[in-house]
Amino acid sequence: MTEPATVIRVATASPYDVVVGSGLLDRLPDLLGPGVSTVGVVFPDGLPGPAGRVKKQLGSAYKVTALPVPPGERAKTAEVASYCWEELGAAGFTRSDAVVSVGGGATSDLAGFVAATWLRGVRVVHVPSTVLGMVDAAVGGKTGINTAAGKNLVGAFHEPAGVLCDLDLLATLPEGELRSGLGEVVKCGFIADPEILRLVEEHGVPRVGSPVLRELVERAVRVKAEVVAEDLRETGGDEGHPGREVLNYGHTMGHAVELASDYSLRHGEAVSIGCVYAAELARAAGMLDDAVVDRHASVLARVGLPTRWAGASYDDLRDRMAVDKKARGSTLRFVVLRDLARPEVLTGPDEEHLRAAYDAMVRGA
Ligand code: GLY
Repeated sequence: MTEPATVIRVATASPYDVVVGSGLLDRLPDLLGPGVSTVGVVFPDGLPGPAGRVKKQLGSAYKVTALPVPPGERAKTAEVASYCWEELGAAGFTRSDAVVSVGGGATSDLAGFVAATWLRGVRVVHVPSTVLGMVDAAVGGKTGINTAAGKNLVGAFHEPAGVLCDLDLLATLPEGELRSGLGEVVKCGFIADPEILRLVEEHGVPRVGSPVLRELVERAVRVKAEVVAEDLRETGGDEGHPGREVLNYGHTMGHAVELASDYSLRHGEAVSIGCVYAAELARAAGMLDDAVVDRHASVLARVGLPTRWAGASYDDLRDRMAVDKKARGSTLRFVVLRDLARPEVLTGPDEEHLRAAYDAMVRGA
């Protein structure tokens, strides 16, 4: 018998549900809500399975406008957004119509941005087809496109009307993409839910279709839902908690590594290296016990993620971190841990500590 779906409420000012389970596509009309007649389905060219199933499901009740876009980050350009706007215009897409995204994080970022801007905002429902999309990009309302100067520099907060995490859509996900998604899941374990770490230590890379993968996705979605409900616009949390910025754990160095590798590392792989770096930085600053620092490399290695990287010099990565959009002026900011699930922001760390953490990252455990 199929397990019933789990519904996770994202309790922001415009609350919505993230539904997690299997065989869920017939729930799409509930998430789209009343009054929709045309649905624009944004999906990467080359994702025929999941996108075809969504279009078929919607086709019986709505007029469907297919909006195929390039795969991955290549979708996140002004040209592709403009193509979508033209297609919506040609389809007579009105304020009561809706966009559905099917794909990974780049697709939902673009589709969310198109929905945020068309007629100053129409409904969007995300149907992520990757673990990364389920646990990160689809939840929380960040949308955007890239420019020559960097990633996500143009965008808007536009929360979805709902998110459908149908785990059946992961059936064709390449193993490398699954592991990359687990990088963000493990991150959630360190910043908020250590039970995630225990599950990963026990099971390693969970099989698609297994209850463990479902539990990991649900736990990571809950972490994200709670964080964005507290601090949607990333203005800061209460009582020393970093607020939404906590989701940036491992990302200050992670983004620098991702860029320096010329994107040969997947996002979750770069975040994995970045989490090890953040833990080493906390160790160097005398904030975090050796046992928790060392657990970073061991848990991440358990799912086959990289925990050391020597592909760029300290000076190169230091410069890249200084232009990260989370930096304020020239002061570096890192989310670090005092303990498991005790995150805080470290502003302007000592140069000596930054370098010591780099040396540890290069050496590996
Ligand atoms: N991916 C980080 C955030 O949603 O804030």
